[in-house]
Amino acid sequence: MLLDVKASQRLDSRGNPTIQVEVRTAHGTFRALVPSGASTGAHEAVELRDHDKRKYGGKGVLTAVNNVNEIIGPALVKEGYSSRRDLKQIDGFMRELDGTPNKAKLGANAILGVSMACARAGAAAANIPLYEFLRREGGEEAPYMVPVPFFNVLNGGRHSGNGMAFQELMIAPTGAKTIEEGIQMASETYCALKQIISDKFGAIYTGVGDEGGFAPPITQPEEALDLLTEAVAKAGYTDKIKFGIDAASSEFFNPENGTYDLGFKRIKEGESHSDDVRTPAEMMELYKSLIEKYPIPLLEDPFAEDDWESWVKFCKDFYFEELVGDDLLVTNVERVRMAESRVACNAMLLKINQIGTVTEAIDAAKLAKSLGWGVFVSHRSGETTDDFIADLSVGLCTGHIKSGAPCRGERVAKYNRLLDIEAELKESWKPWSYAGEKFRKPEAF
Ligand code: PGA
Ligand code: ZN
Repeated sequence: MLLDVKASQRLDSRGNPTIQVEVRTAHGTFRALVPSGASTGAHEAVELRDHDKRKYGGKGVLTAVNNVNEIIGPALVKEGYSSRRDLKQIDGFMRELDGTPNKAKLGANAILGVSMACARAGAAAANIPLYEFLRREGGEEAPYMVPVPFFNVLNGGRHSGNGMAFQELMIAPTGAKTIEEGIQMASETYCALKQIISDKFGAIYTGVGDEGGFAPPITQPEEALDLLTEAVAKAGYTDKIKFGIDAASSEFFNPENGTYDLGFKRIKEGESHSDDVRTPAEMMELYKSLIEKYPIPLLEDPFAEDDWESWVKFCKDFYFEELVGDDLLVTNVERVRMAESRVACNAMLLKINQIGTVTEAIDAAKLAKSLGWGVFVSHRSGETTDDFIADLSVGLCTGHIKSGAPCRGERVAKYNRLLDIEAELKESWKPWSYAGEKFRKPEAF
């Protein structure tokens, strides 16, 4: 039984306010901290901010905090729900209480905080780890699988101050045998990359972006991928580490003329950027050339959230291992169905705050899997030390996760939790493995 549900304002990794929820049951007090995006999709559930410019530049979340303390919390306690059994009912009740299709009234940040804290309380009541609780919520018979971490080691787009349009260049230790080995490989490559950047551009460029990756003064994706290739070779992991790209292209799409401006970050500096504008066909050629030249099994948001035509054409003309929809799908079953019927992509990014409850995120993941798609669990650029998504990735057997670079506390919190889970699985009787090369279809073991 939920005895008390209350919220407070805390900080995220960008120094902006976010919401913390505490749920008290007979088994203890359980907390959750909610993350926040920068390159948010237009179709995401609503993150409620106060818009009072005198405090935190309008980014305060006291309205959302109040909605938990005054509305959601008392109503849930009155209903007498059990955190152990009733997560789906709790989430459904909050959705009805909100009454809007995108959680605009009470705030997806308020609702998600309660949902996550209730899941933790439920796991404690059942005396099982959170990943096991989430596994049961998902009704999975899937094997225990530790995901391949995709480390975002070069930050561009809205996540850094350099001129690179693409938001994330990731390294994935698919050739490791365990996550322990994979994390070591990634950390050593990250250190090699730091040295290379320092030698090429100067030590001043070894500062990091929002997700812990470096942000050297480069603009073109080839420059970034060459740096990664060199770093992987220097660390001695060629062929064992692959690359992923999140272009986050909604950020540089111009809906008026249907083009993509790879120089969008340099407009502010007054530089001419007409050379950087690309048609969708030119973007497709760019992606194809990158995929031919470098080991890239994963491409996220290569086209904008409503540029369905380009997604569909790319999918049709060019078979690609994993084409992930982030802003396109926003972890929403309706958008997943739209993408399926149009054949627009073959994987879903799973961000719990895009949809606003744990069980709706699980439903979206189950639907994506039932279509034979990949499911890629993700942090947000504005994160916290909450490590919930590590358990979610194991519990839903998603085979891969991204949580930024092997650097910055809020990023490594998730990787460290995965190391704990792997150590626990090693000691248990359970059959388990590291997803490795099979990250996209981990169940196929
Ligand atoms: P965001 O970035 O959290 O700023 O949206 C992450 C992503 O686009 O995958
Ligand atoms: Zn993305």
